Amino acid sequence: MMAQAVNQPMSQTAMRGKLNSAELNAGQRLAVKYFSVAIILFGAQILFGLLAGLQYLMPEFLYNVLDFNVNRMVHINAMIVWMLYGFIGSVYWLVEDESGTELVGAKLANLAFWVLTAAVTVVVIVYLLVQTGPGEQKSLWLINEGREYIEAPRWADFGIVAVVLVFFYNVAATFMKGRWSGISGVLVLDLIALAGLYLAGMFYSPNISMDQYWWWWVIHMWVEATWEVLVGCIMAWGLIKTLGARRKIVTTWLYIEVALMFGSGILGLGHHYFWIGTPEYWLSIGGFFSALEPIPLVAMVVHAVYDSGVHRFKNSNHPALAWLIAHAFGNFFGAGVWGFMHTLPQINLYTHGTQWSASHGHLAFFGAYATINIAMFYIAIQKWRGDVFMGAGIRHAWRWKWALALLNIGVVGMTVALLVSGYEQSFVERALQGSTWAGYFEAQRGEWFVQGMFWRQIFGYVTAAGTLLLVWDLITIGKGETRPAEKPTEHQAQAQAA
Ligand code: HEM
Ligand code: HEM
Ligand SMILES: [Fe+2]
Repeated sequence: MMAQAVNQPMSQTAMRGKLNSAELNAGQRLAVKYFSVAIILFGAQILFGLLAGLQYLMPEFLYNVLDFNVNRMVHINAMIVWMLYGFIGSVYWLVEDESGTELVGAKLANLAFWVLTAAVTVVVIVYLLVQTGPGEQKSLWLINEGREYIEAPRWADFGIVAVVLVFFYNVAATFMKGRWSGISGVLVLDLIALAGLYLAGMFYSPNISMDQYWWWWVIHMWVEATWEVLVGCIMAWGLIKTLGARRKIVTTWLYIEVALMFGSGILGLGHHYFWIGTPEYWLSIGGFFSALEPIPLVAMVVHAVYDSGVHRFKNSNHPALAWLIAHAFGNFFGAGVWGFMHTLPQINLYTHGTQWSASHGHLAFFGAYATINIAMFYIAIQKWRGDVFMGAGIRHAWRWKWALALLNIGVVGMTVALLVSGYEQSFVERALQGSTWAGYFEAQRGEWFVQGMFWRQIFGYVTAAGTLLLVWDLITIGKGETRPAEKPTEHQAQAQAA
């Protein structure tokens, strides 16, 4: 650690403030590629979200040209894929630093990046060109598998599995060559689970209950178990890097969080088995274990806030730490509080599949996963610009602060608007009309529902403005900056001396 704090040679000082890939190790150069695609897909997610949102207000808009179901699908697929790109990038970013050795198989990893990116591009183009078709094997293999979030056709599944295996090999072999740590041990075990679950999503059955049963394995156990553990690892590493937090403390927290997360998240799966035709015992299993899921999320907030407090929020990368804190709270509220609200079967009976779910979905995905990826983008750009200063007094600070504010206000605004609509649906469609088809339409015409949809769109524009500002900031931050980055170890020394 201390060796990094010594002054850098003159040549590096001259390069400071400019993009300089020579400053990055092989894993980090790869990470920058993944991050770049992630940001482009983030933009696509927002664009297609706005189109889908507009279609709630103007049903004729783009009708038969770009239908709601297509916009919605591209919106959420772009989200899953950009977040996966962000996570893969984050792991490549930290792997050499954490293992203390060079990335194994960098050439293969580069090839895998291009294969994956080509596959994603083809899949999206086909989604947009072939919007309807027969529900037969050919469509399943070439066009669309019809499983929400993982609609990618079967051919692409095999490509994705191959690329993930390459990624796993690169990461595991690098740690095996270098040194292991608590963080890397958890990380590698988690990647096995992450890849294994995707296989469950390739299982196909014409029995809709069985199909949904396995499909939820991927969706629920990705976001509520394996992704949570993955961001736990990234957070632990991020706190050490930006704050100089003590490894022993963050690793201990990580173990506790992982134990709690797997303890509640795996059987918490049952909260999706209430109404799909699975046996009745899932009502109690799902209700009980998913109600425990907020506990590890509380631990995560306490952990982040505790560490920041110990270091008096003094850190080497202000935007990154701000987004890490946003992650801790976003995860807690979006997943923990908003998830808990509708997780008991007695409540879910009324809220299931209404805008209530969309309210939770937006706050949870943004709060837990968009935020931490954005933090990693800031960590990456700092180093890529020659390890520049990003502390208090950074130039054009208003850009990152306003991007942070607009994005968070936008998503929280959408969340509240959706909750109002969802409330009305639960009340009118479910409680009053007993889940009838007529009740469904009456709820959609209700004033509160329509107003909720209107405000979702307004806050969607706020979110979009925040995204544009964020991209502009990421492109320009640190440009022409000549001051070197402060080292977190120095803060730590100051904090301990004080
Ligand atoms: C970061 C973690 C989480 C993310 C990203 C997330 C995201 C989502 C999304 C997108 C849906 C809608 C799925 C669909 O399309 O049908 C959903 C449903 C649900 N989530 Fe979460 N969630 C998370 C954590 C939690 C937690 C911790 C709980 C419980 C404490 C929870 C409870 C639920 C329930 C009960 C549903 C079903 C809603 C329905 O019946 O329509 N979620 N979640
Ligand atoms: C410009 C802002 C956005 C708009 C206008 C928007 C709009 C929409 C719309 C119209 C849907 C379909 C909902 C339905 O089927 O009734 C949707 C679904 C979804 N969006 Fe967004 N969205 C935006 C941003 C985001 C962001 C930033 C995230 C997360 C990072 C996100 C995550 C999701 C998820 C997870 C779903 C599926 C929810 C479910 O199945 O219940 N969206 N969005
Ligand atoms: Fe779940």
